[in-house]
Amino acid sequence: MSIKFPENFWWGAASSAFQIEGGWNEGGKGMTVADFNSFKRSDRQADSKVASDFYHHWSEDIDLMKELGLKAYRFSISWARIIPDGDGAVNPEGIAFYNKVIDKLLACDIIPFVTLYHFDLPWALVEKYNGWASRDCAIAFERYARVCFRAFGDRVKYWQVHNEQNLMMRVDERMNITEPDPVKKEKLRAQMDYHMFLAHALTVNACHEMIPEGKIGCAVSSTVTYPLTNKPEDVWAARMNNQFKTDYCLDMHCNGEYPGYYMAYLREQDMVPEMQPEDAALLKSAKMDFIALNYYRTLTARAFPADADHPKGMRVEGFNEVDYDMYGYWKIEKNTNLAASEYGAQIDPVGLRIVLNEYWNRYRLPLIITENGLGTADTLTEDGRVHDDYRIDYMRRHVEAIGQAIEDGVEMMGYCPWSVIDLLSSHQGFRKRYGLVYVNRTDMDLKDLARIRKDSFYWYQEVIRTNGATL
Ligand code: BG6
Repeated sequence: MSIKFPENFWWGAASSAFQIEGGWNEGGKGMTVADFNSFKRSDRQADSKVASDFYHHWSEDIDLMKELGLKAYRFSISWARIIPDGDGAVNPEGIAFYNKVIDKLLACDIIPFVTLYHFDLPWALVEKYNGWASRDCAIAFERYARVCFRAFGDRVKYWQVHNEQNLMMRVDERMNITEPDPVKKEKLRAQMDYHMFLAHALTVNACHEMIPEGKIGCAVSSTVTYPLTNKPEDVWAARMNNQFKTDYCLDMHCNGEYPGYYMAYLREQDMVPEMQPEDAALLKSAKMDFIALNYYRTLTARAFPADADHPKGMRVEGFNEVDYDMYGYWKIEKNTNLAASEYGAQIDPVGLRIVLNEYWNRYRLPLIITENGLGTADTLTEDGRVHDDYRIDYMRRHVEAIGQAIEDGVEMMGYCPWSVIDLLSSHQGFRKRYGLVYVNRTDMDLKDLARIRKDSFYWYQEVIRTNGATL
């Protein structure tokens, strides 16, 4: 297939601090919520203590990125490396670490594209404020963002605020929600969400104020939901699943207010967050420069009527936090037309074309993919290679979908597959790998952490070299 990608298209790759860095308590770094969660599972699988050990291999890893030909590297800064307790003293060693990384990226002609927060709230803020439950957490975040803009803004011009606020909000352990009462719990969740929106708006404005030519956006976990049948109720249910899981968040970021259906739900459930009078103007004033989206799969939903025991707006507890069902709104079903990865993600490149068209038509902001990839086990063969043609196939089909969206008229900035090298999967350690480069370790055996280029590395290198002509 022949597709013309723009000359300045960012062929990138992505990672996040707690999943790649390791060095969890080195260089003055504080403990984070992501560390806490990964340590809970450390008797069974890898945790964030070593992860891919980028903290010690950063130079060699960036050499690999250069060899790959990356135009941009999307990575996150660990808040607790910069400010170990979240809102106290700035840690010069943390600043020095990211300075080295940024300088080397630039020396290799790779654009540093920095996320400020990827699931790793400093643990001290949980102890001090119950994290995002408090408005103080939004203030602490803005301060942290300003520290980063001051330290790195002369060289880093592209920023993302929160990674997947809309997804992390659904996952209790990511938000450190321990409230047992379901009604209080949802109220708390709505309040935390609101504080993250405030932090986002404060940070967008700070970036524009402090960094000449600075560009900043969000990274949402995109949701495409098909109706199970063509019954109008199922079509509505599918739409609601999109709106409640992602679109309300994009509307907040782009329009600065909750959309009507969402506000109605918050009112009905008596969980409208506490707001200050000055917030409305702040939320509306923060104008993002682009929308980044993470895309892995699509969903299918049908109508799910409430009944006497299950009132409208009640979530189905305990099954699947990310893809939860809600009475009176939707229930997720399997899509029998799609193949799924071994971990259940329904693989769907057409869905990517759909969502890119939708977001572009709705918001008219340039789009960039900051995560997309296949998580699966890889085998290191006797010849010291990883023959991951399944990953090549996955990436090729998704990049083709991006090309089609470009032909549809969507303004695309770039593509950053997940992940640049193997890293800690959030729930399956190193059993589930995403990288273009294999990291020689298993969950319980660190081995030599050697970096081994997978077949997908060579394939992507060619795609980059030819600006997509060799798809
Ligand atoms: C995204 C996250 O939602 O999904 C990443 O931003 C994560 O941090 C990725 O790794 C894949 O999920 P998992 O659970 O397979 O690691």
